[in-house]
Amino acid sequence: MEYATRSGNLAKSRAQCIVVPIYAPLEMSESAKALNQASGGQINKILKRGDLKPKAGQTLLLHDVANINAQRVILVNLGPREDLDSVKYITAVRQLIGAIKSLAVKNVLICFTDVTCKDRTIDWNIERLIEHFEAGTYQYQDMKGKPDTTSQTLEQVDFYTDRVSGESVETGIRRGTSLASGMHFAKDIANTPGNVCTPTYLAEKATKLCKGNKALSVSILEEEDMQKMGMGAFLSVCQGSEQPGKLITIHYQGTDESSRPHVLIGKGITFDTGGISLKSPPAMHEMIYDMCGAASVLGTMSTIADQKLPINVIGVLAAAENMPSGKATRPGDIVKTMSGQTVEILNTDAEGRLVLCDALTYIGQFKPASVIDIATLTGAIVTALGSVATGLFSNDDDLARQISDAGEHVLDRAWRLPIWEEYQPKLASAFADMANVGGREAGSITAACYLARFAKTYRWAHLDIAGTAYQGSGPNKGYTGRPIALLSQYLYDQI
Ligand code: BES
Ligand code: MN
Ligand code: ZN
Repeated sequence: MEYATRSGNLAKSRAQCIVVPIYAPLEMSESAKALNQASGGQINKILKRGDLKPKAGQTLLLHDVANINAQRVILVNLGPREDLDSVKYITAVRQLIGAIKSLAVKNVLICFTDVTCKDRTIDWNIERLIEHFEAGTYQYQDMKGKPDTTSQTLEQVDFYTDRVSGESVETGIRRGTSLASGMHFAKDIANTPGNVCTPTYLAEKATKLCKGNKALSVSILEEEDMQKMGMGAFLSVCQGSEQPGKLITIHYQGTDESSRPHVLIGKGITFDTGGISLKSPPAMHEMIYDMCGAASVLGTMSTIADQKLPINVIGVLAAAENMPSGKATRPGDIVKTMSGQTVEILNTDAEGRLVLCDALTYIGQFKPASVIDIATLTGAIVTALGSVATGLFSNDDDLARQISDAGEHVLDRAWRLPIWEEYQPKLASAFADMANVGGREAGSITAACYLARFAKTYRWAHLDIAGTAYQGSGPNKGYTGRPIALLSQYLYDQI
């Protein structure tokens, strides 16, 4: 999709469809007033009939309005002007995309730039519009014998800039397109099934991302390298699979080398069978999404490199496949992590923390300014927070606040849970320094408490995205792109 700005006389616009906001119950926006005036009061007359329901997100399609050059006008209700907040705005944007998608139009002109959302600016409006337009029109078609090229006609979205500064709209367009393209890149990877998307495939995608961008470079640790470094926990996950595991590190250098990097670590289990502690069949196919943390890191690296952010960022993908086999880890096995601490693997299905703990030790050498790991780590977080909020855990209050503020700003929200010392005894093991599971209670917290034992020397946060990263079925099946918007915003805030 192409995005641009337009100005001039609205009634004379040659767009195939013009979108103007209405505030409940009958208050017209400036752009609606302009069309109303040109049409001799027709918009007002239609509004009075009451077909545009007074709820935020309702739309009404009008054809051939008198004296309006555009064939179609969509009125979109944003609810009472004084109540318009970010949640209502995004709900309305999503419904608007649905309405536009059902039409055979190639271009639309959206008159949203004078819409003011509580505590938000115009560039935010535009960035979100683009983010959600791209999300609403995304289709994963790589695996179709014949891709469907007819269902989508929209090619061009223009933003009407009269009455506002074109500059802030341009900023919104730039940020929105960088974010949307990072999300698109990550979605195509995350939706790729496990027979194609292997750790090697992730390494290829990372390598391709870095090619042709001087600020990006990649280095890959193979299993032999990990052996030498003593990553016994990571390797215990790899050993059951025919697919070799990889620790993939992407360096983004946006400023002076001496500036300490922000590190993102993504769980990249390309398929999680549970290993010998095998998962039950019904939803096992969903475990192709167990690499959504790694996909989020790839998408964020792409977004910030496109934006040329003047900071240094390191993205790490902890990539492995969790399989049962004659070589697989047995429940009860004890392994030594790179940190020197030993782990009794009571459940081979708690594999995410095993790859992440060695990655957390590995990145200590970079003297990070902050570290965030992103993982589809526990089913328990789905029970606790559903698909609305990502679980947030941190050893640093300031970092936790920055992350939750970033998520709130872009409406890719995270909610903090504790990792208090009182939970740590749950991980006790008779024979090793710790067990890899902490029992039935507070499963997401004990998982985070396990990770915290490997993140003691820097400011660290953990995002459990098991509930927010993907939809397992339905019309929107697939990776949601979360939390790329949150992570990109967090990194913008570091400038
Ligand atoms: N990848 C799963 C977590 C998961 C579950 C993600 C459901 C998405 C949806 C993870 O590796 C796992 O299996 N966790 C176990 C941990 C348990 C054995 C302590 C879980 O949550 O059941
Ligand atoms: Mn598992
Ligand atoms: Zn897993």
